[in-house]
Amino acid sequence: MDDSLKMLFDEQTIERKVAELAAKISHDYAGKEVVLVCILKGAALFAADLCRRLTVPLALEFVHVSSYGSATVASRTITVKKDIDADIRGKNVLLADGIIDTGNTMDFLLKRYRERGPASLKVAVLLDKRSRRSVDVPLDYRGFEIPDEFVVGYGMDRGEKHRNLPYIAAVRT
Ligand code: IMP
Ligand code: MG
Repeated sequence: MDDSLKMLFDEQTIERKVAELAAKISHDYAGKEVVLVCILKGAALFAADLCRRLTVPLALEFVHVSSYGSATVASRTITVKKDIDADIRGKNVLLADGIIDTGNTMDFLLKRYRERGPASLKVAVLLDKRSRRSVDVPLDYRGFEIPDEFVVGYGMDRGEKHRNLPYIAAVRT
């Protein structure tokens, strides 16, 4: 591994946690249909692994949001570059992201989709950088809580690098 990176969660640890989350979600939504919304780009790997393990009927949707600013500072201006295609009125919607930091992105999307009248709207995140939260967001399914370190891998990037790493690492500063 790159000297600038410090291992946080290896492939096996991630796999076990995703399986655990998938089991809970499958149990909670038993008998229902789910619209899983993958928040691009960061949730691409998490959503891909999660959806394969869900046993409920599922539609996969993608929303591409971006915030401007430097690699490590999340800007407060969120723009939707590509929205989901599906009409979610009356549907059970589950938003998936790799990491929740300040909570602004998730808060923005929850407000946006709540207006469309889904039957339910929940959140699944793999990583929770809780100490950084500035907006209170209910996390229905959460993988790991992490300290305030910048992480890469398993979909998450620093300046578009490292998304493809199968593990999650902190960037040494
Ligand atoms: P928010 O501050 O909760 O709105 O997080 C915004 C977005 O910033 C997340 O969806 C990630 O794409 C990105 N982000 C936040 N923290 C990290 C990190 O440690 N590594 C990589 N991306 C991050
Ligand atoms: Mg990023």
